[in-house]
Formats: sequence, C-alpha cells, structure tokens
Amino acid sequence: MTIFVLVPVAIFAFIALKAFAYIRPIFRVRGKLNAEVTGRLTETLNGVRVIKGFNAEEQENKTFEDGVERLFQNVKKSLTATALITSSSTLLLGLASAGIMGIGGYFIMQNTMTYGDFISFTLFLGFMIAPIVQMSNIGSQLTEAMAGLDRTQEIMEMDEEDDSTVRTVKLGKIKGDIVFENVAFSYDENKEVLHDISFDAHAGSVTALVGSSGSGKSTIAGLAATFLNPKGGKVTIDGIDISTVNLSSYRSNLGVVLQDDFLYEGTIRENILFPRPHATEDQLLAAVQGAYVNEFTDRFDLGLDTVIGERGVKLSGGQRQRISIARALLADPKIIILDEATSNLDTESEAFIQKSLHELMKDRTTFVIAHRLSTIQKADQILVIEDGNIVEKGKHDELIASKGRYWELFTYQSRI
Ligand SMILES: Nc1ncnc2c1ncn2[C@@H]1O[C@H](COP(=O)(O)OP(=O)(O)O)[C@@H](O)[C@H]1O
Ligand SMILES: [Mg+2]
Repeated sequence: MTIFVLVPVAIFAFIALKAFAYIRPIFRVRGKLNAEVTGRLTETLNGVRVIKGFNAEEQENKTFEDGVERLFQNVKKSLTATALITSSSTLLLGLASAGIMGIGGYFIMQNTMTYGDFISFTLFLGFMIAPIVQMSNIGSQLTEAMAGLDRTQEIMEMDEEDDSTVRTVKLGKIKGDIVFENVAFSYDENKEVLHDISFDAHAGSVTALVGSSGSGKSTIAGLAATFLNPKGGKVTIDGIDISTVNLSSYRSNLGVVLQDDFLYEGTIRENILFPRPHATEDQLLAAVQGAYVNEFTDRFDLGLDTVIGERGVKLSGGQRQRISIARALLADPKIIILDEATSNLDTESEAFIQKSLHELMKDRTTFVIAHRLSTIQKADQILVIEDGNIVEKGKHDELIASKGRYWELFTYQSRI
C-alpha cells in the first residue's frame, strides 16, 4: 500500500519540479514587464502635452495595451502552470486514495488486515500527504520569491559607483587644475564617441565647448563631473588621476547647471538651499539676487516660499534655469559645469544672467557649453568639438582670425 502511494507522489514531485523550473523565468520576466509598463505610463502622463499636441493618444493607448497584454499573457502562463500542479496533485491524490481503498478492502476481505490497521494506515498517510500538498501551494509563492531574489541579485552585483577599494584618495581643498590626457570614451563597446581628447583647464579658467549637437560636448562635461569614467587615457585633478579619487570628496567641490535641471516639488527656497541647507539668509539672498531669481519671485505672493511643481506654480524654462544657477552660486564650488545652462532663457533674461554667470565663473574652473556663442566669447579657451575630436582650440579672436569651423559657426549665428 505504501508503494502504491509513493509512486504517484514521485510522479507528482517530478511534475512539480518541472513546473516550478518552468515558471521561475516567467516570474522574472514579469518583474521586468511590470517595471516597463508602469515606467512608460508615468512618462506618458508626464509628457501628456506632447502626446496631445501630436495627436498621438491612440498610439500611446496602443503601446500601453500591448504592454498590459504581454503582462496578461505572462500571468496566464504562470497561472496555467500553477493550475497544472494543483490539479495533478489532486488527481494523483485521488488515484492513490482509490487504490488504497481497493487494496485495503481486498486485504480486509482476505482477513489479512484488520479495520484498525487500515484506519491507522490511512491516518498516518494523511499526516504524510498533507504537507506535500501544502508544499505544492507554497511552491509557487516560493518560486516567485526566488525570481525576486534573482532580480535583487542582479542589482547587487552591479559595480558600485564609489568603489572604496579603488577610489582611495580623499581630496581636501583643491586648486582646480583639470587635465584631460588622451581621453577616449564609449557608451557602447563598439562605438567610440570621444577619441584622444587632450587639453588643460587651469584653475580658475573658463573652458568653452562648442560644436554640433551629438559631437560629444556633454560627454566631456560628464567625464569632468565623474559621472562617466574614461575608457582610455585619464582625467586628472591637481595632478591626481580622478578615477582614484573618492567621489564625494571631489563632488563637494563641484557644481552643475544643466539644461533641464532637476527641481524638487517644494518651495523655491528649499530648491535653492538643497546643496547647502545650513546657509544663512544673507548667503541665500545673495545667490537669489545673483541669479535674478527675485526678479520673478517678487511678483509671487509668497515670494521664495512659493511651492513649485505639480502642487504649486509651474515655472518657465528660463525661470527654472535661474533657480539652478542660484543653487550653484550658493553651493560656491571650485569647479563648475554649465551644460547649456542658458539655452532656455530669453534674450532679455540672458542679458541679466550673463552678469551673474560671470560672477559664478570668477575664480572657478569652469566648463561651459552654450548654443549661443555670444555667451562664450570671453572664455580663456574655446574647444571646437566635432565627431568626438577637438578640431580647433584657442581664444575667440584667434579662432575668428583663422577662419575655420568656429568662424563658420559664429558667422552663421550672427547672420540670424
Ligand atoms: N547615454 C548614452 N548612451 C549611448 N550613447 C550616448 C549617450 N549619451 C550620448 N550618446 C551619444 O554620444 C554622442 C555624444 O553625445 P553628447 O556628448 O551628448 O553630445 P553633445 O552634448 O555634443 O550634443 C552622440 O552620438 C550620442 O548619440
Ligand atoms: Mg549636450
């Protein structure tokens, strides 16, 4: 009788193992799909104006539906597999009980077994079978948890940005000499976007990067900000290879103003104070005036305490940029990176900002990327970047005189 039970249990165990191995990757894919579909949905809702503007609602609906459909198919597959496990366990259990009834009944009729023996055998069997049935129920939960662990492990195994075994040098006060030595960089293995970039950015100097879009200007800025690491050559700060420097000790000397700068949902004051939460009111006001933020906050009832973002007022691109510039002024960094920091400003506010940018750049090593070449005429050196190479290097007047690529860009712009 025991053998008669063990055979179906063994068959069940085999089916269950196969089924669990089958659903584990499905659960793993589900995690990814979920992230994809919800991520896309969030983006779509944020960009709803663009979608309406291009009458692309239907297309976006379709994308969402496709994602949900894939998710549904995934859930269906895993549910089918779990259903297979439960139903096969029920079936095999039924078969086993029927078999035992048959054999037991036969033995009792033959008088080789008593009722008591039969009852106690069935009871003990129940004790053994119940956990096995339970296991099949827990099994799918366990598999789902394992798939979750797989994904967690993938994340845990990623390289940490600030690897304390490699980045051992802690910078104190820095001068701010940044040197690029034969730097090469690629985002993907087979496509190099920067080739052999070498230049010096002396402490306190302004380096302007110009060139067509996609030429590699932001990538150079990203390397100087340690957001990216060179694939060849090196970047040094005061003579120290930047890839060996403790990131937070370097970045505490760094300030960035980017084209679409990140602002919190919160008051304007909080947004400006965030690099230096303990700054005094005077320092704050100096930064606010330096970036001409008060020029528009004075018109708000709550002034600097006006809430911005979803719950508050919406700011224009230029206003947002002025807040980012105030933030950088307040942070008072030694190295500053301005990546198209004035591109959202109208001509009038740009004229204001020029003055505060000038203030911001004083005595700091500055990298400035600007569409409008008028913003960079006073730079100590201008690097013209094309296809990841420095094609020209010099001051504004020299480059104009040599009538090369910079001259082309400049004359083209002054015509319009
Ligand atoms: N995150 C990224 N992944 C892959 N390629 C990228 C990434 N960012 C930029 N690129 C590519 O690198 C090149 C240089 O880009 P970028 O430095 O942003 O140019 P620029 O700032 O001069 O407009 C472009 O060809 C761009 O397509
Ligand atoms: Mg760029």
